[in-house]
Amino acid sequence: MSILIKNIKQLVQVHHNNVTIVKGDDMKTLPILEDAYVYIENDTIIEYGLMKDYATIDAKTVIDATGKLVLPSWCDSHTHLVYAGHRINEFVDRIKGLSYNEIAKRGGGILNSAKTLQATSEDDLYQQSLERLNHVISMGTGALEIKTGYGLTVDAELKMLRVIDRLKQESKANIQITLLAAHAVPEDYKNKHEEYVDYIVNNIIPKAAELNIARYIDVFCEEGYFSVKDTERILNAGAKFQLIPKLHVNQFNILGGVALGVAHNALSVDHLEELNNDDIEALKCGNTIPVALPNCSYFLNIPYTPARQLIDAGLPLAIATDYNPGSAPSGNMHLALSAACIKLNMTPAEAINAATINGAYAMGVSNMYGSITRGKKANLIVTTPMPGYEAIPYHFGNNYIDEIIINGDILT
Ligand code: NIG
Ligand code: FE
Repeated sequence: MSILIKNIKQLVQVHHNNVTIVKGDDMKTLPILEDAYVYIENDTIIEYGLMKDYATIDAKTVIDATGKLVLPSWCDSHTHLVYAGHRINEFVDRIKGLSYNEIAKRGGGILNSAKTLQATSEDDLYQQSLERLNHVISMGTGALEIKTGYGLTVDAELKMLRVIDRLKQESKANIQITLLAAHAVPEDYKNKHEEYVDYIVNNIIPKAAELNIARYIDVFCEEGYFSVKDTERILNAGAKFQLIPKLHVNQFNILGGVALGVAHNALSVDHLEELNNDDIEALKCGNTIPVALPNCSYFLNIPYTPARQLIDAGLPLAIATDYNPGSAPSGNMHLALSAACIKLNMTPAEAINAATINGAYAMGVSNMYGSITRGKKANLIVTTPMPGYEAIPYHFGNNYIDEIIINGDILT
């Protein structure tokens, strides 16, 4: 199988060297080739260059991309795409005036989704999730992270892990897997918070590790959920099984989860709708990438992550969808990209860097995804005709996709 894409108006995010992260001021630069070609064999990017230097390549499939752009598929480093049912009733309750936290306190929220998931068969859960996965792929996502966290029992968390693993085996998208047993304290442990943390540490983590499916471990470090002390215990328990932290921090309150994440060498700290100088200083001292989730801010009507403060401090930033039934029921990276520009005040170049190479970094796959580089995986978006890459976030919510190439295959 070989594909040649010719006459590309802009080939976007081209790196001759295998760059794996872009930070601070460097995020303002988006390397492009004007009037270019790219050549793919099987699942790999083999060659690219300018049309003026093009010497005939014999390819099985030739795509004429006159007027169109080609860029790497989106890398969505934070999703909860495996869930059962929906929470539309809570959406309506919020419109009528209840807050996300008030709904959670009444037994709604994550516990509501956990109840539904526990009562859903593994096959049904797989089918519901597969539909969502195929939908996000059709919207341009080529690599994504998926978390557990709606199980909250050993059985249901393992069921989620097996479903995510099956998606990973059967899908052409690259999937990275995170254990999020510490997503909420289940009803059975009401007023026995500490005992649920014991249960995570002594039961869920070791049993999950036996399956050897998850690579990362996450904790919802937030008031009413898990404290910094709980988070530290859970990360230490995960470390015994080489689980690398990726954390939910600072969504509603600043508890110190950012510094804890950096101290534990977290790959990423995500949300950060609330942020202070200590958090920025902590991030400057480590290798942990901050991740903004603008679709969640939009849907919950909460502050947007102060991206400018992070980038202007010289830090890297990724953006992701947070696709989940409660705070962001959309896996649309295009929407996140537009919100990054419109609400986080990021330039289109910064936003595309955040949604490609830095998104790949935030799930540990930027050596193979997130840029047009020889040897990287052939996950590409061919756009409809447009003047330049700035037009992608500009046309928020409009379809901009002409073709999707995933793992070297053209999506039909
Ligand atoms: O990232 N904040 C915690 N977890 C999810 C929401 C989960 C839910 O409401 O179901 C989030 O926003
Ligand atoms: Fe989340």
